[in-house]
Amino acid sequence: MTASPVLSRDADGVRVLTIDRPERLNALDRQTLEALDVAFTAAEDDPQVRVVVLTGAGPKAFVAGADIAQMAALTPIQAHEFSALGQRLMRRIERLPKPVVAMVNGYALGGGLELALACHLRIAAEGTRLGQPEVGLGLMPGFGGTQRLLRLAGRGAALELCLLGAPIDAARALQLGLVQRVVAAADLETATMELAARLAAAAPLALRGILDAVLAGGECPLEEGLAFESARFGLLFASQDMREGTAAFLEKRTPRFGGH
Ligand code: CAA
Repeated sequence: MTASPVLSRDADGVRVLTIDRPERLNALDRQTLEALDVAFTAAEDDPQVRVVVLTGAGPKAFVAGADIAQMAALTPIQAHEFSALGQRLMRRIERLPKPVVAMVNGYALGGGLELALACHLRIAAEGTRLGQPEVGLGLMPGFGGTQRLLRLAGRGAALELCLLGAPIDAARALQLGLVQRVVAAADLETATMELAARLAAAAPLALRGILDAVLAGGECPLEEGLAFESARFGLLFASQDMREGTAAFLEKRTPRFGGH
């Protein structure tokens, strides 16, 4: 049996998933996309897991894109299926009811940037290069890049990145809102795990309501989004964690959230 291209380890409610193909700069072939799908399903199903951190092995890349060698041999029908497979995975990650944090260093290109954009939060190391270079291959983004860049950074930035294909640095990505934080490469893991620990200590049902409402709001008219928010707000009053959170505030102590 060949080893999985995705490594998984747990620490205090945080599941760290590492794409482990450093010799290919963690490029996404079909097997890696499928392994990621399995890994995210397992993370969703495991009640001990409160947060997922996604990263790539080695110092050179988060993910340098879809696997060009594998893609080059595809027929149009197979390429359509490959795109749909990647898009399904990205949608699955985006819809995960637990926060997913991308820990990004080195190259995040093509399918690699698309993967990072499907995560809920992104922390990048200084020196990271992010971009959609597909146009240089006579191609276009196929794992949702045209759509998520548009929604996250607006039409001008989406077109700039996709039409020109030139990577941008972490500072510009921060300016465009494509990443939430940039830290020195030596601090990337510590900063990411600190953020993940904060999320792991938060009330899971509240986090889930926020994730669902923000995602829904990006895809529906304001009135519907507001109605959805009110419904989910009300639902949280059925949770023990809401009782615990408000009681802890009134009693001036730190809350302990059990996820109920
Ligand atoms: N697919 C397959 N193999 C890749 C790869 C990719 N996306 N990116 C890098 N590799 C391989 C290289 O071929 C090389 O293999 P060999 O050692 O066998 O030659 C190895 O990884 C190391 O890469 P380099 O020697 O190229 O490393 P470098 O430091 O000189 O350059 C780089 C780094 C600028 C990122 C360069 O590797 C590169 O341009 N990679 C391709 C980036 C790209 O075009 N990504 C988009 C892919 S298409 C896509 O993603 C479509 C989609 O949306 C679905």
